[in-house]
Amino acid sequence: MTKPLQSRLRARWWKAGPMALDVAQRSGPARLAFAPWQALVLAAAAMAAPAWAQEAALARAQEIVLGKCFICHGTEGESSSPVFPRLAGQHAGYVARQLADYRSGRRQSATMKPMVEDLNDADFAALGLWFERQPVRAHAVDDPDLAQVGRFVYLRGNPYSGVAACAGCHGTGAQGSETLPRLAGQHALYTEKQLRQFSTRERSNDNAVMHGIATQLTALEMKAVSAYLSGLK
Ligand code: HEC
Ligand code: HEC
Repeated sequence: MTKPLQSRLRARWWKAGPMALDVAQRSGPARLAFAPWQALVLAAAAMAAPAWAQEAALARAQEIVLGKCFICHGTEGESSSPVFPRLAGQHAGYVARQLADYRSGRRQSATMKPMVEDLNDADFAALGLWFERQPVRAHAVDDPDLAQVGRFVYLRGNPYSGVAACAGCHGTGAQGSETLPRLAGQHALYTEKQLRQFSTRERSNDNAVMHGIATQLTALEMKAVSAYLSGLK
């Protein structure tokens, strides 16, 4: 801060300080007036708010996860069994939207609906942020031969039946993006089930694009591509 500005501010503070206090006293506690130095302090606090708010959100998410989600999704989003999706590293926006869709019933799940009924949109955003930050791990595939077939389908599609390459949208590493879910490292059983449910529209949300793709996949292709994805980090 330059010297002249500093002294100008000090001069204004001396002038505004007692006056502001006077206004505050006359107008009562509901209408507070701030002296310039107080405004500066408040502005500094407001600039620091996002970091504090994020810390608070992460703490809230951790509390919810350790309260109930961990039973199925693990304490770090790694999940405790292949029937529950891994959430570590999943994109924040995608997680928040799925949770909102479970609550509204747009995405149907008898297991997930009661988990989110008492949570609000701020909780969903916080949980998204928290899961996105959990470390992702490497996983071995169960059947390497099957995964090889899946690699072809994932990267090249099936040119003989018209299946589009998954990588075209989901990216070569299946890391996802702000608008697409991360598929890398997901349990094969969960991925395969989603593909089957996309094809029948039992997966009732997000199926505008995936319904058409999933209906073209054979049972072998679904299993193979799911096996391949499970081995990506
Ligand atoms: C009793 C087991 C169980 C508990 C506890 C549980 N979940 Fe789930 N979760 C599931 C199952 C099963 C699915 C897959 C449901 C489906 O097919 O749509 C799922 C799906 C999800 C998905 C969608 C994943 C994706 O890739 O689309 C998210 C996000 C999620 N759960 C978050 C949570 C959060 C947050 C909590 C805690 C508030 C929680 N879950 C508690 C079993 C559970
Ligand atoms: C034209 C683009 C496109 C192509 C090609 C595509 N996908 Fe998708 N996929 C999407 C979109 C969009 C979603 C829904 C995401 C959303 O709405 O956030 C999605 C969602 C998914 C999900 C749900 C993830 C979860 O956590 O529940 C799976 C699994 C999936 N895709 C697998 C595949 C596979 C396997 C292929 C290749 C056979 C493929 N996708 C090809 C666009 C595509």
